[in-house]
Amino acid sequence: MQSFLGRDILSLKGFQRAEYFRLFEAADELAPFAHDRRNTDLLAKKTLVTAFYQPSTRTRLATEAAMIRLGGRVLGFSDVKMTRAGDFYQESIKDTVHMLQCYGDVIAMRHFQQGAPHEAARWAGVPVINCGDGWGEHPTQVLTDLYTVWKERGTLDDLHFLCIGDMRMRTMHSISYAMAEFDIEATYVSPPEMSLTAEFKQELTDLNLRFREASSTADAIADADVIYMEPVVQADYTKSRVEAAVDKGLTPAAYRVTRELLRDKAKPDAIILHSLPRMDELPPDVDETRHARYWEEAFNGVVLRMGLLALVLGAME
Ligand code: CP
Repeated sequence: MQSFLGRDILSLKGFQRAEYFRLFEAADELAPFAHDRRNTDLLAKKTLVTAFYQPSTRTRLATEAAMIRLGGRVLGFSDVKMTRAGDFYQESIKDTVHMLQCYGDVIAMRHFQQGAPHEAARWAGVPVINCGDGWGEHPTQVLTDLYTVWKERGTLDDLHFLCIGDMRMRTMHSISYAMAEFDIEATYVSPPEMSLTAEFKQELTDLNLRFREASSTADAIADADVIYMEPVVQADYTKSRVEAAVDKGLTPAAYRVTRELLRDKAKPDAIILHSLPRMDELPPDVDETRHARYWEEAFNGVVLRMGLLALVLGAME
């Protein structure tokens, strides 16, 4: 198992099974602080820099909340237009990161360009955490998701995941790499124009993931232990910022999960994860069903990132 100390967290490709469990144990150890709304001083001498070139509610705030819970300091930007990287100068990642590494001990970056955090990591003398890069990956979200499944089901083996949504999404890439590390079978449901690419399917085959594609949620939901959702009506993740169109469009029934569908077809103990924000693919009345776990998932986003920051910054081994 590779040590977490000083490590960049850029991708879940190659992230090993034992590393997931070490991270989950660290998160469990620190979870009481978050549950009791207490801060500790574990990272009192450390500073997190957040560099968010794209909007975020959960990822940035959960990462910052995790650092604050551990007693660390936080600084950064959430609107790149107010920096030299987003104004007239369009300062490069390399130059920007040369500065950011002077201001803190770890950099959490979200960017609209796939690979931007990897580029940042080339030039940074401190660890870089990928908080979502274009259509690339979203490792900390998926680490949170698997931690949530592990807490709920007590295992990550012998499970069937139903992944519904836009398969270009960065979460879908990271979850696919993650599933391949466990005894997880996957079914993917997406509109044809948002389906898995031939290259990515080949990559999953090479990773020995057992998967299939289905055309409708209703046809596949009966097998699912975990229903893993993303919108099919959503922004272009290669843009720094996308305003909502007046008419966003509705999600076709084939990619929605409703109370009725859950009642009629889902396993009684199937759980739903959604990284949020949602559109109409997951109606609010599903929140009241026994299947919903996305609020727990959002809370776990703080706990998991506490474990990750503590390990990467050397406060835990
Ligand atoms: N889950 C997630 O990535 O949400 P944000 O875009 O709000 O960070």
